[in-house]
Order: sequence, then structure tokens, then C-alpha cells
Amino acid sequence: MSEPRQILVTSALPYANGSIHLGHMLEYIQTDMWVRFQKLRGNQCIYVCADDAHGSAIMLRAEKEGITPEQLIANVQAEHSSDFADFLVDFDNFHSTHSEENRELSGLIYTRLREAGHIATRSVTQYFDPEKGMFLADRFIKGTCPKCAAEDQYGDNCEKCGATYAPTELKNPKSAISGATPVLRDSQHFFFKLPDFQAMLQQWTRSGTLQEAVANKLAEWLDSGLQEWDISRDAPYFGFEIPGEPGKYFYVWLDAPIGYMASFKNLCARRPELDFDAFWNEGSKAELYHFIGKDIVNFHALFWPAMLEGAGFRKPSAVNVHGYLTVNGAKMSKSRGTFIKARTYLDHLQPEYLRYYYAAKLGRGVDDLDLNLEDFVQKVNSDLVGKVVNIASRCAGFIHKGNEGVMVAGDAAPELTEAFLAAAPSIADAYEGRDFGRAMREIMALADRANAWIADKAPWSLAKQEGKQDEVQAICAQGINLFRQLVIFLKPVLPVLAADAEAFLNVAPLTWNDHLSRLENHQLNPFKALMSRIEPAKVEAMVAASKEDLLAAEAKAPVGNGELAKDPLSAEIEFDTFAAVDLRVALIVKAEAVPGADKLLQLTLDIGDERRNVFSGIKSAYPDPSQLEGRLTMMVANLKPRKMRFGVSEGMVMAAGPGGEEIYLLSPDSGAKPGQRIK
Ligand code: 2FM
Ligand code: ZN
Repeated sequence: MSEPRQILVTSALPYANGSIHLGHMLEYIQTDMWVRFQKLRGNQCIYVCADDAHGSAIMLRAEKEGITPEQLIANVQAEHSSDFADFLVDFDNFHSTHSEENRELSGLIYTRLREAGHIATRSVTQYFDPEKGMFLADRFIKGTCPKCAAEDQYGDNCEKCGATYAPTELKNPKSAISGATPVLRDSQHFFFKLPDFQAMLQQWTRSGTLQEAVANKLAEWLDSGLQEWDISRDAPYFGFEIPGEPGKYFYVWLDAPIGYMASFKNLCARRPELDFDAFWNEGSKAELYHFIGKDIVNFHALFWPAMLEGAGFRKPSAVNVHGYLTVNGAKMSKSRGTFIKARTYLDHLQPEYLRYYYAAKLGRGVDDLDLNLEDFVQKVNSDLVGKVVNIASRCAGFIHKGNEGVMVAGDAAPELTEAFLAAAPSIADAYEGRDFGRAMREIMALADRANAWIADKAPWSLAKQEGKQDEVQAICAQGINLFRQLVIFLKPVLPVLAADAEAFLNVAPLTWNDHLSRLENHQLNPFKALMSRIEPAKVEAMVAASKEDLLAAEAKAPVGNGELAKDPLSAEIEFDTFAAVDLRVALIVKAEAVPGADKLLQLTLDIGDERRNVFSGIKSAYPDPSQLEGRLTMMVANLKPRKMRFGVSEGMVMAAGPGGEEIYLLSPDSGAKPGQRIK
């Protein structure tokens, strides 16, 4: 046997200001399956991740929610951790980039780069928001497109005509944060001298570390010459202050990948057998793999290896890049209900259904993967329930009835035993090379053969005949042995199914090499259904709940259009726009939960001369809606009626707060009368 490998694996660090959705899950499930395969093979494989907690977006969102950034990232970390755990993503550590380990390592790497001459400083002129007192990133500046004159365009590109430009070219620029007119101001910035690493990167990107399509894409950047990279931001900024440079902070993308090291370092403190230096020092024998999406290749395959090289650390063994997720052939869409959050999926369906579907469709390349919801139901039901679990459920009963649950010795189908053994190396190769689709096809081809053999032998007919009991037992013992091998092959994808199967088989946790042996004269435990079929109604309910998520978010948002509701930063409005909003005191006559909706309440509101039906996403804060009946609140009475799945919503009530249980319906002082206008 060869020595176990030492492998460190990462998935991209999710931003700490949003929920995990099924697009994110593609990467975490892909990585987790690969890690579980390595562990099943007996390798030392460590899987770390963290929340990506820094940057101005997080700072501003916390400010808007009236909490500190530390509170925001703690809340989000708790939510992310439980989403991952419930999808069976088994990190050895899930840390945060806002950690002491990361502060130290970021400082160390920066200092080493500076001492080696790889940091430049120069003055940069940028837009500054005089009201908010901060420099504005391009996406926080809005104005009129210099090319086509479209209004309300971002600081770096126009969504109307597609032009790209510098923010200073924008006409009539405004800060998207305060609405103030930004002014140009100079500031000293720090740059990482990426061109110093041109030759190393040219070689490294072509040394088997990257998929060919990725290396080709990078060659375009490398050939056109690398630019120095601005790694500093001015206060106020949520991040780490640059050592010795008060008021200057590391740009979030500088300390994000260092977060991989920091998460591992944090784990080392709890796991004495792990040696940080052995994994990270130059010349390390350990393997290091990053799994990422194709949108962040430049950070991982240019900046990151250059930073590591410049600071005297080892470089990644490979960066494994995947494509985007589409749902039903199109980009995930909130209004179609295909922008599905991890939690919404988990509220309706088992995690292993999705793990298997992703495995079945994932290849080695960077192609996008489509989650077709009809195909998903069909494939999972046909492969997992119809093929794999079916073998055990067909055979177990006869062994329990006819032989008290004991599997007899003997090989009733040597050709099948041989075929299963022969397939194992190729399945292992497919897993190793991240060709999960091929692994699943080969496993299902074996399941088909096992099912065909059992159908041909028809133990259910033999069981009715005199003197055929031995034959029935031999067939069924063989069936269970084949099932056991399929479970081993599928274990990286389906850990819960494997654990349940181990309980039924009455065996210790299976490892890859267990496929070489078989169970003979072995007592089984009672058989329980291992997996149930996906009911299409559950998928429909998940899609409906995803539409509702959107409506709940909109209902929670203050007066405004969809754009404002999505954008944490409200732009300034004219007085006339404000005056056009018909705000009224409303009496809540009736408040009821909406059957089939997790987040909505249906309110009947009296506004003096008429009654309105309004749906509002406030159920989480008012689990007993009847408590709202009889109280006054405020509503937007001239909002265009909106058709929703449950009926037409004729206005919007006004509430404050970050969400969940913390939603506070606004109330006028006592004495106000239903229908009175708010001035
Ligand atoms: O693109 C993103 O979602 C980033 N938060 C990924 C960071 S990966 C790593 F470099 F930290
Ligand atoms: Zn334009």
C-alpha cells in the first residue's frame, strides 16, 4: 500500500452578507464529495472554509440594519454553518476571515511582500462622498452614461448600452450611499507588484495546475501584461488595518484567500496531529486544492499564487474551477421561483437528492450545470430509489423470513462479483479526477446489472416453490452483497444513505477497500426503507416558497421600487415623488396566516372609506396573527395592486427591522383614525 496522502482542500469563502443558495451549493457539494472520497480511501484530507467577512458592502449593510459588522457576520455565520451542515457538507473547520489568525497571517504576508520589494505606493485620485466621509467604490456611484445618456447607471458600466468607463466620465455623478455629489480627492494607495511574478505565473498556469480552458483564459491576461493590483482601501472600511499605515486597510480580496490558511491554522490549534508549516511552507509535500467558480479565477490563479510565492509559502497543487448553475435552462430567477435558497430547499426536500443530481451532472470541465427540476425528480427516483435501494428491499425480506436475517455463504453470481470488482478502479479514477458524472454512470450500470440478474432469478417466484429455499437464500445474499458494494461506491455522495445501510447491514463504517470483501454467514438488522421517492408536489412547493421569499423581501422593504428594495442603499428622491405616496392610518380588522405560505400574513385593513386586502411578509414576527387585530398601523394606499399566488395585494403595510422575529409594525399615536393621511 502506498503512503496516505496529506491533502488540504478549500471551497471559496462565501460573503458574510447573504444567504447560501443552490448555486453556491454546487461548489460545496462538489468539494465535499471529493473530500469524502479521499477520506474513504484512507488519505488524510482536511477541508476548511470560512465566511468572507470584510469589505464596504458588509459595513454598510450592518449600518443599515442598525447593528455592528461583528454582529452581522456572527448572525450570518450561524446561518451559513447550519445550511452547510444540513446539506451534509462536512468541513473540518468553518472559520471567519475576521479572525486573529487571519489578521496575523495577512500582516505577515504583507510584511514579507513589502520587505521583498513587491509593494508599491502611489497616490490615486478617486471620488469621495463628502457627506458620508468615505471614498466610493465604482458600484456606489451612479449617474448618467457618458455614451448613451441613460440615467441612473453605475460608476463603471452602463446597463443600457454596455459601455465601460471610468467613474469620472459619468455625467452628474451621485453617491449611491448619501445622494451627495462626490468630489475628487487624492489618497495614498498600496499596490502589489503582480508583474514581478509574470514568468512564474506563465510557467505555473501551464504546469497541470489548471484545467485547459482556464489556463487558456489566463494566457490572454498574461499575454497582454499584468497590472499592479491595488490592495488598500481608506477608512472607514471593515477589515484589517495595514500594519504601520493608520487609516489604511487591506482590500477584502487581499485577506480573503489568506482566510484559507487562517481557517487551517485555527484548526491546527485543536488538532495537534496537524502541522501548519508542513502544509504551507515552501517545499511542502502536502497537496493543496482550491475549488472555485469561474468568476474568481484571476484572484486564485494569478494574485494568490503570486502572493504565496512572494511571501515564501507553497503554491496550490491545483485550482479546480466549475461553471455556473442554471435552473430549468436559465439563470436563477427570483420571479420564476428558481432562485432557491439552501434553506428553502431543505424545508422541502432531502439533501441527498440534490447531492446525487449534482454528482450525476458534474464533469471535470467549466461548463455550466443545469438543474432541470423535472429531470431531477425523474433521475433521483429512477436511479436511487428504483435501482440502488430496490436491490436491498427486494432481497432483505426473504433473508429475514427464510433464514432469520442471516446471509448465507457462497457466491451465486461470480461473473457479477467479478464485474463489480473490476469496475472499482475506474470509478475511483473518475472520483479522483472530479468526473462525478462518469462515476455515477458506471455505478448505475452496475446497479442495472444487479437488478437484471435478480429479476432473472426471480427469488419471489422460487420462494413459492417447494425445495427452493437454499436457492432463494443464495440469490438474496448475493443481492445484498452487491448492494453493499454499490453503497461503498456511492458513500462520498450519499453519506446518510450509507450510514443507514451500514446500520441495516450491521457493519462498521465502510471504507473504500471494503468493496474487496463480502458478507458471509452474516446477521442483518431489520430492513427499513432507505430512501423515499421525490414527490413532484414538494418541488412545486419549494418553487412557490422561493417566489414567496422574494415577495416577503419586497414586503419588508420600505416604500420604493424593486431596485431600491434590493439595493441596501436608498437613493435620494424628489419631494414630488415622496408627496405622491398616499400614506394612511389603517386599522387591522383581520390578520390570518396564509395556508401554504411560510412567511406571509393576509391582512384586512380598514382605511376609513374602504377595506383593503394586503399580504405582508411579517409572519415570523407575529406567529399569532390574531394579536394584530384591532391595532392601528400605517399603509401605502396607492401602491399598484399586485397579483400574488394567494390573491391580489392592495397596498403595503409599513414595518421596520432586519427581519425574522425582528420586524416591527409601525403605529401612529393613539387618537389617530383609520383613513387619515400621513403628512
Ligand atoms: O466571490 C466570492 O463569493 C468571494 N467571497 C470568494 C472568496 S474566495 C477566497 F479567496 F476567499
Ligand atoms: Zn449607456
